[in-house]
Amino acid sequence: MLSKILNDLDEIQAKFETDSRDIDDNKLLENLRVKYLGRKSALTDMFKYMGQLPNDQKPILGQKLNVLKNLIQDRLDHIKQDLKVKTQKIEIDLSLPGQDVFRGKIHPIMQILDEIKEFFVGLGFTIEIGREAENDFYNFEALNIPPDHPSRDMQDTFYLHNELLLRTHTSPVQIRTMEKQQPPIRMLAPGRCFRKDTPDATHSPMFHQVEGLVVDKNTSFAELKGILLAFARFMFGSETKIRFRPSFFPFTEPSAEVDIWWENKNTGAGNWLEILGCGMVDPAVFDAVNYDSELYSGYAFGMGIERIAMLKYQIADIRVFYNNDIRFLTQF
Ligand code: PHE
Repeated sequence: MLSKILNDLDEIQAKFETDSRDIDDNKLLENLRVKYLGRKSALTDMFKYMGQLPNDQKPILGQKLNVLKNLIQDRLDHIKQDLKVKTQKIEIDLSLPGQDVFRGKIHPIMQILDEIKEFFVGLGFTIEIGREAENDFYNFEALNIPPDHPSRDMQDTFYLHNELLLRTHTSPVQIRTMEKQQPPIRMLAPGRCFRKDTPDATHSPMFHQVEGLVVDKNTSFAELKGILLAFARFMFGSETKIRFRPSFFPFTEPSAEVDIWWENKNTGAGNWLEILGCGMVDPAVFDAVNYDSELYSGYAFGMGIERIAMLKYQIADIRVFYNNDIRFLTQF
């Protein structure tokens, strides 16, 4: 008799395995429970044999019954839990503080560039882009830079193959712009430049410049001075003082470097700090683009954006602009 009973229990278990699949709501789950563990279930019915078996067989049946009962109960609990998770509503506590969303920012170099552009575009300057890989003609020759000039040296310039080099300044954009259009010209050319410098606090092999060029019939050094003074005051404050210091560039004559007076508000101590180079376009440059230098004159200026940013924000080391340190970048 015992083996027949144990056999029946195996069948009940097998049937339960099939029935308990695909239970997807609480009603089906309750039906399943009643069917297998309810008072009239086949399993409950089996407990009656406990009284009929000889004493030595009772523990065997008892153990088997308990194991099966626990197995069924476990499975039912499991299904119940699964159904609960599936139908759970997501509860939102509207009183909790919001989560901070990380917002990207415009890089300080680009912010300064945007300010520079804003000033000059307001004066009617157009934006020219040029190219980072230039050839000798645009970067040097057309700008009246002699063959033996140190900036042409392998030590100072990155040469690519096919006669190309990485432009060492944005001045080649002057030439490209004059080649493609006739005066009057008022253009601004921002972009990356490259020089074979060993990185330190004030040097980087890649940096940014903005070039300006004006060509027209009656331009003058006085006009250049006026524009650059207005620019310096726009950039560094309305009280800013500037000075023009005679200098030399092969493509401008006369040439000057512009300094701003930088003063410590507390101590009153200060010094002159260079912000850009400029000058009247050299007639040799007009010759290179076939402009009539008797009819036209012009002025040009070029500035390092990093330099302006370092002055404006009192940054001592140029390398912080390229480290991508979020603690630095989020300050702007
Ligand atoms: N190209 C010069 C430099 O890189 C700057 C400059 C531009 C000077 C235009 C005069 C006129 O130093």
